[in-house]
Amino acid sequence: MPKIGNIELPEFPLLLAPMEDVSDPPFRALCKEQGADVVYTEFISSEGLIRDAAKSVIKLDIYEKERPVGIQIFGAELDSMLQAVDIVEKSNPDIIDINFGCPVKKVVSKNAGAGILRDIPLMVKLTEEIVKRTHLPVTVKTRLGWDSDSIKIVEVAERLQDVGIQAIAIHGRTRVQMYKGFANWEPIAQVKNNPRMHIPVFGNGDVDTPEAAVKMRDEFGLDGAMIGRASIGNPWFFNQVKHFFKTGTHLASPTMEERVSAARRHLQMAIDWKGEKLGVFETRRHYTNYFKGIPHFKEYRMKMVTSDESADVFAAFDEVLEKFGDFQFA
Ligand SMILES: Cc1cc2nc3c(=O)[nH]c(=O)nc-3n(C[C@H](O)[C@H](O)[C@H](O)COP(=O)(O)O)c2cc1C
Repeated sequence: MPKIGNIELPEFPLLLAPMEDVSDPPFRALCKEQGADVVYTEFISSEGLIRDAAKSVIKLDIYEKERPVGIQIFGAELDSMLQAVDIVEKSNPDIIDINFGCPVKKVVSKNAGAGILRDIPLMVKLTEEIVKRTHLPVTVKTRLGWDSDSIKIVEVAERLQDVGIQAIAIHGRTRVQMYKGFANWEPIAQVKNNPRMHIPVFGNGDVDTPEAAVKMRDEFGLDGAMIGRASIGNPWFFNQVKHFFKTGTHLASPTMEERVSAARRHLQMAIDWKGEKLGVFETRRHYTNYFKGIPHFKEYRMKMVTSDESADVFAAFDEVLEKFGDFQFA
């Protein structure tokens, strides 16, 4: 069974990917309830943290019930990253994860995120110092390389392991690809097949069906799957995959009642955590997927995504249950 440091995981664990503006505590809690084995926070700027920027600091909040949880940080300045590690430790996460994969221009232009894939010695140095600084297990999330001509992930993963990381999650795209094309899991399998690798190697990118997860496990031999977009508005995805692993059959799609109940709890947790205004605003992006596939739904969706008061959103949920309660989801 794979382990991250002393954290014992089931066979082929499913990890909720870090996702900015998505993987917040309420969403992570829902995913955990629905079978995610490890959850990660959205990325947190080391520079923001050390300046005590409220937007960064609030991202450190974790609920006990979501453990094991990893807090993900990004940056390219050693000093800032080390200070950020000290701050993150105070939140008592189970794991510290370093983001070496974010492809966004404003991040890579500062050599952070996937930008560091152009400077492997710096990547290794930063990781080594972070590992030395903390008692927590450190993991890395990265991409295959900067572009298709510079895929050195086998060497990179080995060097990161040698400076002490406890697991690596690899998104099967390069920085240049951003989110285009398909994720290529072949180089990730090469990392796993390197006889010197002994830490878990998790695959990421396009695990959007239970069949894809089986493929990653059986054909590519990876140690677990990190799941991002397939879980947005669909926290049930983790248990759907696990059910498929066990039985080879598909778990029935959640009923309308289950969906409304999840949407309700999601909104309530978000309000409890970040207040009425932000809670209402930031939960909006999930509703489209919670209620995907219902015909003539626009009127209700609009109510959910334009109401500023939670009471109106909760009322819209009631209406939906009343009107579409028997709808059969595919
Ligand atoms: C909305 C969104 C936000 C993301 N934010 C982060 C982030 O904060 N940190 C990170 O390492 N990756 C981030 N990613 C990348 C995902 O973690 C993941 O690598 C990518 O979506 C591919 O996996 P998937 O095909 O399962 O979605 C983000 C992706 C999306 C769609």
